[in-house]
Amino acid sequence: MAAQAPEILGFDQDAVARAAAAIARGGIVAVPTETVYGLAADARVPEAVARIYAAKGRPSFNPLIVHVLDVAAAGRLAVLDEDARMLAARFWPGPLTLVLPLRGDAGLAGAVTAGLGTVAIRVPAHRAMRALLTASGVPLAAPSANASNHISPTRAAHVAGSMGNRVPLILDDGACAAGVESTIVAGRTILRPGPVTQEMLAAVLPVAPGRTAHVSAPGQLAHHYAPRKPVRLDAVERDGDEWLIGFGAVAGDDNLSAAGDPVEAAARLFDALHRADASDRVRIAVAPVPAGGMGAAINDRLRRAAG
Ligand code: TXA
Ligand code: MG
Repeated sequence: MAAQAPEILGFDQDAVARAAAAIARGGIVAVPTETVYGLAADARVPEAVARIYAAKGRPSFNPLIVHVLDVAAAGRLAVLDEDARMLAARFWPGPLTLVLPLRGDAGLAGAVTAGLGTVAIRVPAHRAMRALLTASGVPLAAPSANASNHISPTRAAHVAGSMGNRVPLILDDGACAAGVESTIVAGRTILRPGPVTQEMLAAVLPVAPGRTAHVSAPGQLAHHYAPRKPVRLDAVERDGDEWLIGFGAVAGDDNLSAAGDPVEAAARLFDALHRADASDRVRIAVAPVPAGGMGAAINDRLRRAAG
């Protein structure tokens, strides 16, 4: 664990080499992906994975996503059936996580999968995460780089604010483009809505929203994405001393997308929640966001924030 404030390094070859060296020593590094910043460690090393759980204060029964460079690397850790191969071919690299049967010879630390017979795998598109995967040459376990129960980070400053001295090194490559966590699919079930929408998935496979019964995941707990202040949803105007996060025609103190674009709104969502938390107002209200497409992921995260 670091004794002082995290070192924030702008993305370049030197920074990636430093981060890879930390990973090789069994350390943890915060690194951006196209969804949110992740807290990465070598997925094969139990002590390294334990450091992720300790730094986040995350209950150890909640499994982590493993990041790899391509479908071939995914195939060394998990079994991809025909459905999984079609989804991978269409959406990897990108913000889609597949829950797949774990291979017996995968060599992952047990805590990564929390003892399940399945593993969540994602092939990220972001240059910083891909550079770190290339330089370290190992599969990287990485949950979102926030303390357990905090809002997910879409900027290096969010990581530093939430993790403080519990993360020694942050690779900074600006704001995350998608802004909400990856879509998680198990079989033909969407476990977590995200940037790869149900509509996009349906062009490849018939998929339906759902939940697993046996994984009590942090992303599936009502308060996982909660700001510190009470949140009221579907607000068309400010009530008293609220900080109003607007959308479209509902202007507010802040606006997710004045143009009413759900993709822009997703990219700004966690940033807006961070700003609302930091404001001088004691309550937060959020304007309604339409349900379709990316709206499914936004409304999912907003319901948790208000839950
Ligand atoms: O966009 C993302 O997915 C980010 C970036 C960093 O990649 N990561 C992320 O990780 O959101 P995390 O740990 O905050 O969320 C991972 C989710 C949790 O809800 C966890 O329970 C679920 O994935 N998960 C992991 N392994 C699973 C498994 N074998 N079966 C079902 N759910 C699983
Ligand atoms: Mg998370």
